Amino acid sequence: MARRLISLLFILASTLYSMGVDKGNFKTCEQSSFCRRLRGMTAGESKYKLDLNSLQISDNSIEANLLNGDVKLKFTLTAINGNIFRIQVDEANPLYKRYKPQFALKGEPQVSKLSLLERSTDSVSIAHNSDKVVLHAEPFKLEFYHDKELVSVVNGRGLFAFEQYRKKQENTNDEGQETQAVDDPGMWEENFKSHHDSKPKGPSAIGMDISFPGALRIYGLPEHGDKLPLRTTGPGGVDPYRLYNLDVFEYELDSTMALYGAVPVVYAHSPKHTVGLFWHNSAETWVDINNSKDGNVMASIVNLVSGSKTESNIDVHFMSESGLVDAFMLMGPSPKDAVKQYVSLTGVHPLPQYYTLAYHQSRWNYNDQDDVTTVVQNFDANDMPVDVMWLDIEYTNGKKYFTWDPVKFSHPDVMIQNLTTTGRKLVVIIDPHIKRESGYFVHEDALANDYYVKNKDGSVYEGWCWPGSSSYLDFYKPETIEYYKDLYSLETFKGTTHDVYIWNDMNEPSVFNGPEVTMPKDCIHHGGWEHRDVHNEYALAHVYSTFHGLMKRTPNKRPFILTRGHFAGTQRYGIIWTGDNIADWAHLAISYPMCLNEALGGISFCGADVGGFFNNPDVELLQRWYQASIWLPFFRAHAHIDTRRREPFLFADDVKNRIRTSLRLRYAHLPYWYTLFWQHESAGEPVIRPLFYAYPTDENVLDVDNELLVGNSILSRVIAESGVSTINVYLPGGPNEYWYDIEDFKLYHGTGNHNIPVSLDKSLVFYRGGSIISRKDRPRRSSPLMRNDPYTLYIALDSTHKADGYLYVDDGESFAYKNKKYLYIHFSFEDNTLTSELVDKTDYPTTEWIERLVILGPPKGIKGAKLTSKTFPSVELDTSYSNEDRILVVRKPGVAVREKFSIKLH
Ligand SMILES: *[C@@H]1O[C@H](CO)[C@@H](O)[C@H](O)[C@H]1NC(C)=O
Ligand SMILES: *[C@@H]1O[C@H](CO)[C@@H](O)[C@H](O)[C@H]1NC(C)=O
Repeated sequence: MARRLISLLFILASTLYSMGVDKGNFKTCEQSSFCRRLRGMTAGESKYKLDLNSLQISDNSIEANLLNGDVKLKFTLTAINGNIFRIQVDEANPLYKRYKPQFALKGEPQVSKLSLLERSTDSVSIAHNSDKVVLHAEPFKLEFYHDKELVSVVNGRGLFAFEQYRKKQENTNDEGQETQAVDDPGMWEENFKSHHDSKPKGPSAIGMDISFPGALRIYGLPEHGDKLPLRTTGPGGVDPYRLYNLDVFEYELDSTMALYGAVPVVYAHSPKHTVGLFWHNSAETWVDINNSKDGNVMASIVNLVSGSKTESNIDVHFMSESGLVDAFMLMGPSPKDAVKQYVSLTGVHPLPQYYTLAYHQSRWNYNDQDDVTTVVQNFDANDMPVDVMWLDIEYTNGKKYFTWDPVKFSHPDVMIQNLTTTGRKLVVIIDPHIKRESGYFVHEDALANDYYVKNKDGSVYEGWCWPGSSSYLDFYKPETIEYYKDLYSLETFKGTTHDVYIWNDMNEPSVFNGPEVTMPKDCIHHGGWEHRDVHNEYALAHVYSTFHGLMKRTPNKRPFILTRGHFAGTQRYGIIWTGDNIADWAHLAISYPMCLNEALGGISFCGADVGGFFNNPDVELLQRWYQASIWLPFFRAHAHIDTRRREPFLFADDVKNRIRTSLRLRYAHLPYWYTLFWQHESAGEPVIRPLFYAYPTDENVLDVDNELLVGNSILSRVIAESGVSTINVYLPGGPNEYWYDIEDFKLYHGTGNHNIPVSLDKSLVFYRGGSIISRKDRPRRSSPLMRNDPYTLYIALDSTHKADGYLYVDDGESFAYKNKKYLYIHFSFEDNTLTSELVDKTDYPTTEWIERLVILGPPKGIKGAKLTSKTFPSVELDTSYSNEDRILVVRKPGVAVREKFSIKLH
């Protein structure tokens, strides 16, 4: 009872009275015993040594004992397909097994051949393609070379650490290590003392330092509310980046604090080389970064005085609470190569359904079923497109998932029918906590069949979340997954249809009265694993189960699942958003770098709540938010229950017009987005890209994160400044790279900074010269209504008067594309002639056709054009210049996209 009271007070305090993130709720490195221990190590000679007498070399790997006093570890270095090295360290004679994440890798990485180059008494060199590794025995150190250049060093600073599990009685004061998990309980002391009084296996942290000589910037490690390049952290300064999935209330920006997701991958980059490191571990992890360019005042003075330049360098230090050392060195050498190497391990987003790329309208909460119908009617009445309506927790019967509120949502089937007859879809929220209420079938089944996460004494764990007292499904147990999959069936989740999709929220997991608002680390999952071991992977296990539930329910349609908690590999099952952001300019600005770092971490399908979740945006902010977020892959408006209604049709005409323009621009580019996702699935490139990814040798773009590239053809600059009349835009690529403003078609050269006038009506978006972008410019109310609409090809010419681009077409929802039921068309423009051809020998019987060409930066003096195809052997087409001759429009080719054709200007 007392406990419940404390919990209630806590909920009240945190949800009603707190303004902004309460940092006291969350640990610093200093307050986390293992982080303090590992960070407290001083750099110097490592005590670890590789026992070369025990060395074993096979075709793909090299193995040896790694020793430190009486500690004996097993070290393995393996060559992996695609220029990757895998570094694994486990105990030689483990007392207890150590956890390896089960869901992150898309499969066992494919080994590749390595060859022995050299062996001496204290080192061994091996080669794999054009990469080389030198293993130094004493002190233990690994050097990675690409084409003879040293690009990475492991344990160069001697911070490698591997705390071995000890028998309980030995678990006394050993080198100052705590005999118990001192997870400083802070304000939960009362509640959680009992959970933390002992940790049977003793400390088991691991750490490793990696240096990247020559690197200028380092990126990655989502999810943080921080800029694209990672900042220097360090004792006495900024806390290390923390990876520990947490439900953070009103998160703060420019911060290394943990958020909802954890993707432990970094990319160190210089104009010469990019190399990545994937730290495959799901326990709480902290990462220190030291970029020599930051704060190294002495070095800069020396440089200034001597005129010399000290070599740049970035040091990284990974520290995890438990698990194994399992790290993948991604050898690059370009950013594109390194990201490809990462996704070759953890997978890609499978091609989503077409509608998922359209506009989503959400709010906590639509009041009832009529509200849902009315909102859609208002979109229609205002000629604003929308594809998906979302229901937050209030649709349920008392926060019991897989049920409906019997009064407010008495006829979900009719409501859904109302939506689907106009081509819309519904997404409903399903969280992993289950209300502990007798009679609630999920709870009863979970108790009866042992599906819940346990306390360490074996009893069912109980925490507080939306429904009050709740327990949490254990997605590590195969029987729980099987059971959970069936909960999504139409028989069980009554009222739903095949057009209902899922939002998995609160799956960090969020526990209102738990330590740091999550599950205690000594809770037990199937297989005996402590929550400590699996924490960052729990949300992925949840989404994995939902994905297979939807596959079972609707086997012929691609699942769509939004998840808040995420980990490496989440992209194979779901998409993410940046959680509970705030309606202010800074949160609008941060949405670009946050999603860009996620995209580098394999999770391209990312968005931020349009308008901001907390608080009320003013109309200027709201409009800017729409203008910017049509260029992020996931495009959803969402708002807190305490905010004013802000569906876009509620505003004055000028505001409505601007938002409508943005919505239409998004819908016009759906074919482009869809093509990018197809290319993403087949080639692994991120859908959105930071500038350094596409222009790796340009030092000026290293810090640019208020711009992003959608594929390689569109550049958007977020306007997150209020009341501005000009904006500085950096356009990359040099004088021969052309950029066309997509609104007035004005040409800019990629020569760096341009000051461009902006009004509220103006956003800053550019087509790259050399691109052909397929658009559908006829405004419609939803994407299914655009299915058979014709295309307008925007042909943006480069400095040599050429362009090319791709268009991917299929049924937009099924898996038939895996059986060659699609078109993948390549358009190219050269010698004043546009031609089309199918890239793959496939077919899809679409009736879509081409209604217009818009040529940006056109040749002068064109009088007409001639179409040639099988159906149209020779047809004259009208052409005309407009926008001060910035564009040439070719009217009504009328040719089917399935058909090979050419159009020659004359
Ligand atoms: C960061 O590295 C520089 C050398 O590049 C060194 O002088 C400095 O002490 C390091 N800082 C920390 C916090 O380790
Ligand atoms: C369905 O649409 C009709 C017609 O607009 C409306 O009268 C009715 O209330 C809607 N029903 C539900 C359950 O949303």
